[in-house]
Amino acid sequence: MQLKTIDLHSHILPDFDDGSQSVEISLAMLRREAEQGVDVVCATSHYYAHHEGIDAFCARRAEALERLSAAMTDDLPQVLPAAEVTYFSHMEERDLEPLCIRDTRTLMLEMPFTDWTDLQVETVEALVLDRRYDVVLVHPERFCFSKSNKHKLKQLAQLPIGLQVNAGSLLRWGTRRLALDLLQMAHMPLLGSDCHNLTSRPPNLKEGRKVVMQKLGEDFLTKIDLNGEWVTIPTTEAP
Ligand SMILES: [Fe+2]
Repeated sequence: MQLKTIDLHSHILPDFDDGSQSVEISLAMLRREAEQGVDVVCATSHYYAHHEGIDAFCARRAEALERLSAAMTDDLPQVLPAAEVTYFSHMEERDLEPLCIRDTRTLMLEMPFTDWTDLQVETVEALVLDRRYDVVLVHPERFCFSKSNKHKLKQLAQLPIGLQVNAGSLLRWGTRRLALDLLQMAHMPLLGSDCHNLTSRPPNLKEGRKVVMQKLGEDFLTKIDLNGEWVTIPTTEAP
């Protein structure tokens, strides 16, 4: 069976967040993804609980996806609605399923860009162990600026969660070692481009995959692809 190549992290929906600013740019980004062999793109638009309610976000996302889908051709990758959910307090008490990757329990979680508190770590534990979300921490490498966060990340990595490293972090010399270490530390290593546009943060999954292939080998890349399928497969279809 041919495994799909999945870009798990993108800001590809038009006029939605700080990503693509038009349908034309979204289409060009999708073309770039297709050229790189990507079959599926998760549209992980930013969700900030202090800005917007979950229902309003989902309605806005459906509208943006509809505008994009109407302009898409068959040769482009499939786009799955999702969200990059920024941590918020008491999030474990909310129904977050509408924010998960479509028809899954996969929650793409962006932790705070500060030193994490014990309460924040406990919230992630509750999301995984009590609420049974398949939590994926997005770009964990961006939070490793302090000893304390590195320690807490190690603690969280003991849980059955995914760590989604950005392809760009594998391409820069300053972050490559850390990105590779985190992929190896993860129960469920995953990759995404976190693309925002065609210039400063373009689709770059192919280059990131090449680094994984060179440094960690083909089997490791296959593991990433299998994990990508696992976190995107509708729960009704899961074995
Ligand atoms: Fe992002």
